[in-house]
Amino acid sequence: MWSTTEAGDAAGEGLHRTVYGADVIAARVAELGRAITAAYPDGALLVLGLLKGSFIFLADLVRHIDRPLHVDFLLVASYGAGTVSSGNVRLVHDSEAELAGRHVLLVEDIIDSGNTLNRLVPLLAERGPRSLELCTLLHKRIAPDLVLDARWVGFDAPPEFLVGYGLDHSEDYRHLPFIGAL
Ligand code: IMP
Ligand code: MG
Repeated sequence: MWSTTEAGDAAGEGLHRTVYGADVIAARVAELGRAITAAYPDGALLVLGLLKGSFIFLADLVRHIDRPLHVDFLLVASYGAGTVSSGNVRLVHDSEAELAGRHVLLVEDIIDSGNTLNRLVPLLAERGPRSLELCTLLHKRIAPDLVLDARWVGFDAPPEFLVGYGLDHSEDYRHLPFIGAL
């Protein structure tokens, strides 16, 4: 089993390698939080997490955003059991929060093909937020056209399938405190 004391060790459970260790992630998430804090001088901030992949990142991130905010979630499914985007993006659970007139910060775990965001962003923009920005922990930089690119990016990710720190493969590995490559 994984343990937090072996947070940098990917070898034990069949992972190829550790890509971002827990300490590296923590330092970067704190930087993102500070940058986001500085970027929103006024108005109510609504942090909208895309489940499930962003749940750990969002939990850490909001603790570094030093201003009043609300948190809500959307559940979007785009991958089945595979490691390639199906392009079949489903909104499984919608946020009930009022977006109109609010600064909305979408929080995503990773931008890969961009299918999820390209489907979701127009839907949210239609609700009349005062602003709509995107923060992603990882960006593969392979999406050809993004209707909205991320203003804040944790790391430019390598072209591998990554797991841990919220990211899964068939629902496994989400709980790992670091990010590894399958
Ligand atoms: P996209 O729609 O192809 O941009 O992919 C978005 C979603 O696919 C992300 O929110 C993740 O949940 C999932 N995903 C994409 N790449 C990876 C990966 O390398 N590891 C785990 N999940 C991924
Ligand atoms: Mg996923």
